[in-house]
Amino acid sequence: MSLHLLVTDYRLFTILVLLSACLGFVLLTALIWALRTRAESLVPSVRLIRNIVLPTAVLLYLSLFGAKLEPDSFVIRLLESIFWVEVLWVILMLTRAVLVSRRENTPWKSKIPELFIDLVRFSIVVVGSGMIIAGVWGKDFTGLLATLGVGSLVLGLALQDTLGNLMAGIALLFERPFQVGDWVRVGDLEGQVSELNWRAVRLRTRDQDMVIVPNSILGKERISNFSRPTPLHATNLYVGFSYDDPPNKVKRILRQAALMTQGVRPDPSPVVRTKEYRDFYINYQVKMFVEDFQTLPDIEEDFMTRVWYGARRNALTIPYPIRSIYKTDMPPAPTAHRADSLRQTIQAVPLFAALSSEEIGSLAQDSVLLDFAVGEQVVHQGERGDSLYIIRRGEASVSVASAPGQEREVARLRSGDFFGEMALLTGEPRSANVRATEDLQVIVIYKEALRAILENRSDLARSMAKVVRERQSALVQVENQNKETTREPSSIEEQTLSLTARIKRFLAI
Ligand code: CMP
Repeated sequence: MSLHLLVTDYRLFTILVLLSACLGFVLLTALIWALRTRAESLVPSVRLIRNIVLPTAVLLYLSLFGAKLEPDSFVIRLLESIFWVEVLWVILMLTRAVLVSRRENTPWKSKIPELFIDLVRFSIVVVGSGMIIAGVWGKDFTGLLATLGVGSLVLGLALQDTLGNLMAGIALLFERPFQVGDWVRVGDLEGQVSELNWRAVRLRTRDQDMVIVPNSILGKERISNFSRPTPLHATNLYVGFSYDDPPNKVKRILRQAALMTQGVRPDPSPVVRTKEYRDFYINYQVKMFVEDFQTLPDIEEDFMTRVWYGARRNALTIPYPIRSIYKTDMPPAPTAHRADSLRQTIQAVPLFAALSSEEIGSLAQDSVLLDFAVGEQVVHQGERGDSLYIIRRGEASVSVASAPGQEREVARLRSGDFFGEMALLTGEPRSANVRATEDLQVIVIYKEALRAILENRSDLARSMAKVVRERQSALVQVENQNKETTREPSSIEEQTLSLTARIKRFLAI
C-alpha cells in the first residue's frame, strides 16, 4: 500500500529510479574493474551497458511510469526500439568477445574461422531485428518478409556476386580445404592463408603482398594445399651433367648435396633419378623433401649452389652449348697457369717458406684445388684423414664437439693458414670440424707428397710438430674449460721433440 503511494507520487518515483540507476552504475563500474584483471575482452560490453543501455532504460522507465506516456505512443515505441537495438549491440559484442578471445587461447577454438563468427553475428541481427519489428511496432515479421519477396528478388539479382561469394564461403567452411596459416596454390597464385571471411580469402604471398581471392573464384579454381595432410612437401629439381660423367657418380654427388642442404629432410631420403638423354647433357631429377614451405626457394637455391661446388670438387661437368672461337693470341695453357698459382700459395705459407723451388714444385704438382660453398663442412671430427688443406681464398671455422649437439669454436683460419695436418702427421682421427664461413678455396696436399718432402727436411717436421702441439694444447684447454686445469707434465720443448719423433715413426721417415 505504502509502495503504491510512493510510486504514484511522481517526484518520489523519479528519485527512486535515479537512485537505482546510480546503484546500477556503481555495481557495473565494480564489475568492469573485476573483469579488467581476468577477462579483458568482456570489458567493452559491460562498459556499453553502463554508459548507454542503462541511461536509455532509465529514460524509458521515467517516460513510461513517471511522465505517464501511452505505451503505444510513438515516443515510447521509439525509445523501446533504441533500447532493444542497444541490447542487440551488446549481444553482438559479447559474441565476438567470447568467440575471438577463446580462439586466441585454445588450439581447437583457433579453428573457428572468421566466416563462422560473421554468420553467427548476422543471424543475431536478423532474428533481433525481426523481434523488435514484431514486438515493439506490432508488425507481422513473416508478412514483412513476404512483402519484401519481390523486392528481394531484385535485390538478389543485384547482390548475385556477393551472395555467390557468401554461398561459396559457406561451402568452403564445411569442406575445409585449408585453414588459416596453410600454404596454398590457387590457380597460379601461391601464398599463406591469413584470413577466411564471408566474401573472400586473404593470401599473403612470398613477396609479402596481400592478395584477396573472392570465394566464388576459389570454388571454381584448383586448390593445392601444401600444408595438408602433413607439412611435408616434395620438391623436384633438374640438373644436367656431361655425357662423360658416370651417372652413378653424379647421382651420389647430387644425393650428398641434397642431404647437406639445410632444410632438406633426411627422412624420407632424397631420390635422384637419371631422367633423360638430351642433346648435350644428361638430365637428372632430384626429389627432396622439405617441411618449411615458406623457405622453399631458399632451400632450392642453397641446393643448386652446393651442386656447383660438389661438381667442381668431384670433377663433374655441368655442360652448356659450346661454340668454337679461334683467337690468334692464345693465352698460356691453363694448366701451367694453375700450377704457378698453386706454387705461389704454398710458398706464402710461413712454414713452407724455407722450401726450395723444386720442393714447392713437387708439392704443387701432386696437389688439387677444391672449392667449398659457405656453410659446407671440409673436415669432420673423428674421421680418418691423410690430407692437409692450405686456404687459398676465404675463411674457415675450426670447432670441436664439446657436448652432444654442442660445438665450440676454437679458431678462425684465413688465406695462407692450413689445417688437417694433425691427422695426416699422427694418424689420429680428425681432432675438430672445419667449416667454410665464406666461400672457400683450398689446396689439398696428400700424405705421400708431404712425406717425400719431410724425408729430407727434419727442420720442417719439427716446425710442423710445434704447430700440432700448440693446437693440441688449445684443444685441451677448451676441453678443460669447465674442469680444474692440470699442470702440464713436461716442457713445450720436450713435448715438441717427442711429437716430432712420433711423426717420423708414423710416416716411416
Ligand atoms: P686435423 O685433426 O687433421 O683436423 C681438424 C683440424 O683442425 C686439425 O687437424 C687442425 O688443423 C685444425 N685445428 C685443430 N685445433 C686447432 C686450433 N686450436 N687452432 C687452429 N686449428 C686447429
